[in-house]
Amino acid sequence: MKTNTNIITVHGLKKYYGSGPRQVKALDGIDLTIKQGEFTAITGASGSGKTTLLNMMGGLDVPTEGEVIVDGIDLSRLREEQLAVFRRKKVGFIFQNYNLVPTLTVEENILFPLDLDGAAPDMRYLEEIIELLGLPDKLNAYPEALSGGQQQRTAIARALAAKPAILLADEPTGNLDSQNSQNVAGLLKMTTKLFHRTLVMITHNPELAQLADTVVKMKDGRIV
Ligand SMILES: Nc1ncnc2c1ncn2[C@@H]1O[C@H](COP(=O)(O)OP(=O)(O)OP(=O)(O)O)[C@@H](O)[C@H]1O
Ligand SMILES: [Mg+2]
Repeated sequence: MKTNTNIITVHGLKKYYGSGPRQVKALDGIDLTIKQGEFTAITGASGSGKTTLLNMMGGLDVPTEGEVIVDGIDLSRLREEQLAVFRRKKVGFIFQNYNLVPTLTVEENILFPLDLDGAAPDMRYLEEIIELLGLPDKLNAYPEALSGGQQQRTAIARALAAKPAILLADEPTGNLDSQNSQNVAGLLKMTTKLFHRTLVMITHNPELAQLADTVVKMKDGRIV
């Protein structure tokens, strides 16, 4: 793929919940392009629509109106099983609440998305990531025995494992202290630049937003 092509195009995107006077306009007309290989930070107050937007870009949620085009594919045209393949092959998610599988160990959680596709894991790369995220001692532990920060780092390793073209990260360092936040955000940025991947990261932390090539600020479901 060429440099500087738009890997994500969002056009006239709206997401409304409910109807009548209690309707919530989580997204109220978003236009946004994200270039391949870039690191974009999304900031804004709680409830401004950041997670909703990120989920739409990853095909996890269906808009009320508007379109999301990822790598030339209009997500609204994909059937559910095609969407699932799209998510597995193209996108790595780091969720706000981690979404680790409680019955799998740290190592099994990290390898889980690879197993689903029957892909041969790049063991050297995985070891490097596990080392960088400080998880070697925890590989056989279950999520319930991990601290919030360790769960978060496991979720980050899992998202990076399949080397997705697009990494969508929702407050990936929200549970880490400021030094570890810098380290992890730096690692995400480094892998993005090194492998020419695309990173979209939600953060409340201005220092982390500063690491990004572009900062998108949201307010009341719009970009300001
Ligand atoms: N499933 C849902 N049903 C109803 N309202 C929803 C739903 N999901 C989100 N919302 C509402 O949409 C708005 C945007 O939510 P969203 O989770 O995108 O905010 P956010 O910017 O990620 O906030 P935070 O920083 O707290 O994570 C909020 O007002 C929220 O209450
Ligand atoms: Mg959120």
